[in-house]
Amino acid sequence: MIKKDVTYVVMGLLDQDSIAYAIGKTIEKWGGKVIFTVQNERMKRIFIDRSKKMDDEERKSLNIKYCDVTVDEDVKRLFEEIGPIGGVVHSIAYSNPKTCLGKEFHTDAYDDLKNGFHISAVSLATVTRYAQPQMKDGGSVVCLSFASQLAFAYYNWMGVNKAALEAVVRALARRHGRDLVRVNAISAGPVNTKAAGAIHGFEELGRTWDRISPLPWDHDKDKQEIANAAAFMLGPYSRKISGQVLYVDGGASVIGGELLDHERPLTSPESE
Ligand SMILES: NC(=O)c1ccc[n+]([C@@H]2O[C@H](COP(=O)([O-])OP(=O)(O)OC[C@H]3O[C@@H](n4cnc5c(N)ncnc54)[C@H](O)[C@@H]3O)[C@@H](O)[C@H]2O)c1
Repeated sequence: MIKKDVTYVVMGLLDQDSIAYAIGKTIEKWGGKVIFTVQNERMKRIFIDRSKKMDDEERKSLNIKYCDVTVDEDVKRLFEEIGPIGGVVHSIAYSNPKTCLGKEFHTDAYDDLKNGFHISAVSLATVTRYAQPQMKDGGSVVCLSFASQLAFAYYNWMGVNKAALEAVVRALARRHGRDLVRVNAISAGPVNTKAAGAIHGFEELGRTWDRISPLPWDHDKDKQEIANAAAFMLGPYSRKISGQVLYVDGGASVIGGELLDHERPLTSPESE
């Protein structure tokens, strides 16, 4: 799965509900070492230091560095300082919820649109550029996407950014094959996190999944399934996979329309 004692950088930790957290813990479970990145010190103070869900021992065990992916110098310094790594997880996205998400598809908030595009898509290229020299024997870069082939209500410009992110994945796979660095995306079904909570109408999106996912989809527990897939994509068993989007969404992405009553999963997510 994961190479033992090899270091992996997991970017985009906000709190223990983050997909990044589940992925980091899974890498550790398989014997890898993890360096998490948090956007800045303020975020760590608010979401990790004050978190009631995390005990002190767990808090202290996290190896955390700061990195704002829109600041080139931050990304460069991060990878220069950490030494050799086996791979990177880019679990980062942002779009202003007022102008880029929600009921209306706004088209005029250009600064917000550019910022969202920079953070959510372009930054994967920045990260890969500075991470690659630390993967001298090759490595794996994995990012997180969401249903970019469809236009979902409320998701608006983030859907556009995810389509761009997947195109960046393909371009980077082409560029870095010669470095033996693989670049892939995991397109995950909806799970409860802070970023998801910021999307007005996210609950509706969640309910949609209950109507279209042929496998039961648990909005909390299945974060672990996303993390398991990330561990596979980071490790040697996926050595010849690059430029791909791996769907970990209960199968929802291939369903036309909604499932009929007799097609719905018989087991509830809890009983899985
Ligand atoms: N939650 C879901 O349902 C879901 C589904 C599919 C894909 N995803 C994707 O998974 C990834 C992780 O999101 P999450 O749901 O775990 O939420 P999260 O809020 O826990 O993580 C988002 C992270 O992005 C970071 N970030 C934003 N701007 C940044 C910047 N300039 N520099 C560095 N970091 C920055 C935030 O600080 C945060 O840590 C995102 O790409 C998201 O789009 C989420």
